[in-house]
Amino acid sequence: PIKACLFDLDGVLVDTAVYHFKAWRQLAQSLGIDFTEHDNERLKGVSRVRSLEIILEIGGKTLPQEQILALCEQKNSEYLLDVAKMTPEEILPGVVDFLQALKAEGLKIALGSASKNAQLILERTQLLPYFEAIIDGRHVVNGKPDPEVFLKGAEALGVLPEECVVFEDALAGVEAAKNGGMLCVGVGQPEVLTLADIVVKDLTEMSVERLHSLAQKG
Ligand code: G6P
Ligand code: MG
Repeated sequence: PIKACLFDLDGVLVDTAVYHFKAWRQLAQSLGIDFTEHDNERLKGVSRVRSLEIILEIGGKTLPQEQILALCEQKNSEYLLDVAKMTPEEILPGVVDFLQALKAEGLKIALGSASKNAQLILERTQLLPYFEAIIDGRHVVNGKPDPEVFLKGAEALGVLPEECVVFEDALAGVEAAKNGGMLCVGVGQPEVLTLADIVVKDLTEMSVERLHSLAQKG
């Protein structure tokens, strides 16, 4: 039986991708790198440092580690200016209804995100009270597709991996869920999230019934 749901943040609960893109693009420009919206897809689910490494790869540049860290700090300061202005209106469709339905059925809820700003974003959007555990970029050593973030989430909730369903919009995140032995609902396009057990457009397509039928199928 399913006992818990583990949610990715960016792209599943809130759409922060536009703010990440804005801040990365500004930084890329200052380095003379043309960073496009198409390139931005590659940064989904990927840590901050790894994101900058990908941008540098795109621009054919290398930088010393200390400068990489300084630039990451700079990007994050820009990003936080937008996060500070976030409101509950930026929660994606279907999210609040589904979280409330899970709570009503006694299912456990945790966050599994690569972001070091996860807690702040949950506070800004007033989603924090729904989460019994928050595992994010501050708690993990190995980023997605390593399953660490979700395994730690299951452990914090006191449930087994096979009792969890993960919600993910990034390919690396779906891989992380499957690597952890969990069921996974992809949020986005079926052509991209091929490893997910099912794919939905957004959480308006989810219900507690559909969640339980997932486990019966598998
Ligand atoms: C999420 C986003 C990524 C972002 C990462 C780290 O996984 O999808 O685009 O790079 O979090 O976010 P942070 O807020 O720590 O820079
Ligand atoms: Mg995501």
